[in-house]
Parts: sequence; structure tokens; C-alpha cells
Amino acid sequence: MGEPHPSPAPTPPSSTPAGPPPHPGPRTPPSPPAPALRARNLARTFGRGRTALAALGPVDAEIAAGEFVCVVGPSGCGKSTLLRIAAGLVRPSAGELELRTGAGRPTAMIFQDYGIYDWKTVLANVRFGLDIQRVPRREADRRARSWLARTGLADFAGAYPSALSGGMRQRVALARALAVEPGLLLMDEPFAALDAQLRTLLQDELLALTQTTRTTTLFITHSLEEALVLGDRVLVMSARPGRIIAERRPPFPRSRTGEVRATPAFAALKAELWELLRGEVAGRDATDPEGATPA
Ligand SMILES: Nc1ncnc2c1ncn2[C@@H]1O[C@H](COP(=O)(O)OP(=O)(O)O)[C@@H](O)[C@H]1O
Ligand SMILES: [Mg+2]
Repeated sequence: MGEPHPSPAPTPPSSTPAGPPPHPGPRTPPSPPAPALRARNLARTFGRGRTALAALGPVDAEIAAGEFVCVVGPSGCGKSTLLRIAAGLVRPSAGELELRTGAGRPTAMIFQDYGIYDWKTVLANVRFGLDIQRVPRREADRRARSWLARTGLADFAGAYPSALSGGMRQRVALARALAVEPGLLLMDEPFAALDAQLRTLLQDELLALTQTTRTTTLFITHSLEEALVLGDRVLVMSARPGRIIAERRPPFPRSRTGEVRATPAFAALKAELWELLRGEVAGRDATDPEGATPA
């Protein structure tokens, strides 16, 4: 599943680096790495003729290797469609998406509804991707158990998911995704079903895990706060068909736990993004995506 759909022949690294110019200082700044993901004019329409629905795009975006990018946008604007194209589950109608996840490094996806198998034990769920990769059983067990330990599930290896809470089920999904050492981790509102406290806890855990493994991550959320806590970069999408209308780099140091959310700078950036989003949902469904107006 490494390169889920045919991509054009490899092109040389882009000569136009994404984001701000390099800091002054070192005389020869390192050249930017080739992006792990590059979308050009990417668009998707569902259906044909009079019932055709333009769901997404055109979208142009790049994600650097190791970068954690969050995407926010109004409901129905095409966020899941974008992610499903990146996962190779949906074909674009126009444009192209290029993935460079490195040899043998698959793409892993985590959904809001966990996507774990109720008839498999927790250990077997986490080992699942490794089994598919034909990792020898003992090695797969060792790696799966190590990820269970890292996600606080060591005592639940033999349990079935039905015995677990929502937070623990989502940890199983996270352990399973990270166990295959993905070149690209795709997450579609993974914490939306969790209560606020648990969501904060899992956000912290996800950050710690993806920072230590330097996993390139594309994370969809409808929560501005979540995007600002997690993202190296936040992309804001327009109403359907979703295009990228703004991009911000939250200037807060890692880890953005606890107090940073209460700072005026955090609130100001959140309010700024909310203004952008409100412009997009105006006349449609003018409710705050987080159920309250920003402070
Ligand atoms: N398989 C599909 N067939 C037809 N329409 C679809 C399909 N998938 C998504 N859509 C439509 O495309 C639009 C964008 O959907 P989606 O990507 O799920 O939005 P989001 O994740 O931002 O809420 C919606 O109007 C949705 O109904
Ligand atoms: Mg969605």
C-alpha cells in the first residue's frame, strides 16, 4: 500500500521551498527535503451531469517529510475526500497527488470510528499491519507488544476491543498504525468522539509519539484548538468544493500542553482562523465548529 496509486515518474526536488524562507545564519542552509506529499490542482467530483457534485479542490499543497499538518474546514467541504485520495481509497477527478513515503514505508490511516476488529485481540489488532507486511511472527509480536507498552495498553494484549473504552480503542488504532512505521500517517477526526479530557490526553500522546518517530502526518479536524495544538502547520479549507484558503504556522513551542491554550496569543490565532471559517460557513450553518464562539 506504499504508493497507493500510480504517480508520475519521480521529479527532482522542488526548487521553491514551502513556507517561509530559511533563517539567516548558516551560510549554506540545508536544501529542503523533497516533500512527502505533493498535491497539484487536485480535485474530485462525485457523480455526473446535472447531479455532479464538486466535492474538493482544486487543491495545491505540499507536506514535508516529518511534518505534522492539520487541515480544518467546514463540514462537508471535502476534508475526508482529500484524505481518502491520499490513502488511495478515492481517485482524483483532476490533478495529481504524489507521495514519497520511502521504500517499504506504508501509508497508515486512522478514522474517528477506530476501524479496529472486534473479533481480534488487542495484540492481534496491533500486529495486523505487520502480518500483512509478512513480518515474521515473533518479530511482529515483539513490535506489537512494544507499541502496546508505548500506548499504555501492555496489560490488555489479550483483551478484545469490546472490553475497552473509547479512548483505549483509539489507542489500539494508534498503536496499529504506528507499528508499521508508516511513511505517512493519515488521521480523519480521530478524537472527535472522545470527551474533552481524553482528547487532550491523546493529543499529547500522539504528539509525543509522532515527534519521536518523525512521522509525516496529515490530520483532519473540525477543532481549531486541536489543529493549533498539534500542527506544525494548519491549512484552512473553504466551503465545498474545498480549496486551501489560508495557512498558518502556530508559533508556540512544543509541547503545547496545558497552559499554551490559555495564552492570549493562542486565543488570538484561534479567533483569526475562526473568522476565516465563519466567512466560509456564513449563510449555510453559522455555528462555531467547536460549539462556542472564541473568547
Ligand atoms: N462517495 C461519495 N459519493 C457521493 N458524494 C460524496 C462521496 N463522498 C463524499 N461525498 C460528498 O462530498 C462532499 C465532501 O464530503 P467529505 O469529504 O466527507 O467532507 P468533510 O469530510 O469535509 O465533511 C459532501 O457533500 C459529501 O456528501
Ligand atoms: Mg469528514
